[in-house]
Amino acid sequence: MKEELEKIREECQASLGLARTEPEISDIRVNVLGRKGSLTQLLKRLGTLPEDERREIGRRANEIKEDLEARVEECLRCIQEQERTEALEREKIDVTLPGRRMILGRKHPLTQTLDEIIHIFSRLGFEVVEGPEVELDYYNFEALNIPKGHPAREMQATFFISDDVVLRTHTSPVQVRTMEKKRPPVRVICPGAVYRCDSDPTHSPMFHQVEGLLVDRGITFSDLKGILTVFVHQMFGKETKLRFRPSFFPFTEPSAEIDIECFICGGKGCGVCSGTGWLEILGSGMVDPAVYRFVDYDPEEVTGFAFGMGIERIAMLKYGINDIRLFFTNDLRFLKQF
Ligand code: PHE
Repeated sequence: MKEELEKIREECQASLGLARTEPEISDIRVNVLGRKGSLTQLLKRLGTLPEDERREIGRRANEIKEDLEARVEECLRCIQEQERTEALEREKIDVTLPGRRMILGRKHPLTQTLDEIIHIFSRLGFEVVEGPEVELDYYNFEALNIPKGHPAREMQATFFISDDVVLRTHTSPVQVRTMEKKRPPVRVICPGAVYRCDSDPTHSPMFHQVEGLLVDRGITFSDLKGILTVFVHQMFGKETKLRFRPSFFPFTEPSAEIDIECFICGGKGCGVCSGTGWLEILGSGMVDPAVYRFVDYDPEEVTGFAFGMGIERIAMLKYGINDIRLFFTNDLRFLKQF
């Protein structure tokens, strides 16, 4: 029994030396010191020994039991300590590393330009209204004093949906829709997409306009000049020179286009302004009495003016962009500059 005892001790110490994990150590504890463990079983058999042997072996067995218990505890502590150190090492974070940069979106340059236009006109008392992009021939042409077969229809290459339905070629139909719904005074701007069969560096088949309409008693051409001068100065800076150049639109009389001094050459004449020193930015005029007849306004009682501008064109001039298609190709290198 003495040898058996020493053997248990040796084996237990050896396997503790090899054990690397908590469950392995617990197994050893159970196998040796547990209720059915080898050492416990041996202690139970002590009673069968003669008195003197029993005392000696009993003492030795208790010594070994205490020693093994202590070793098991020590091993467990060691392993826990080691696991803790490993975990700390594994979960270490470097709080001084720079954070991951969040990519922020931003408004499209055309939206920014439109926001600015709306901001300027809303401070002048204009309200924003909208109309459909798929439009009746009646609103896009007829009621704007452009009858079927009239040569003015050729000014705008039209996409037809059917004989009397078109993709609107300008935002002017919203003038008519607004006046149909509301009696004067009317003071609105109408932003939105428009369509023309046209594509080159300065023309896109889909682009955006902002229409303006102001109708009231006693409105004159000087109101038009005043409002649009304020707009140009706020949009392009108050040093910007502008001119009103006589023009023609079937729905305004008289009509004028507004040019601003070329920002490239400062008015001397260059490639961008085709040598004129001026850049066209919008069309305008006094609402033609013929239009009032379609909406049941009395031209003897009210007068008004209208204007229309291309948002892309305004943005191109403001930011010096030379190709309209850049707005629609969604190249982040372009968009990030705004
Ligand atoms: N609708 C015209 C165009 O697209 C612009 C315009 C609007 C002119 C209002 C005069 C008055 O060319």
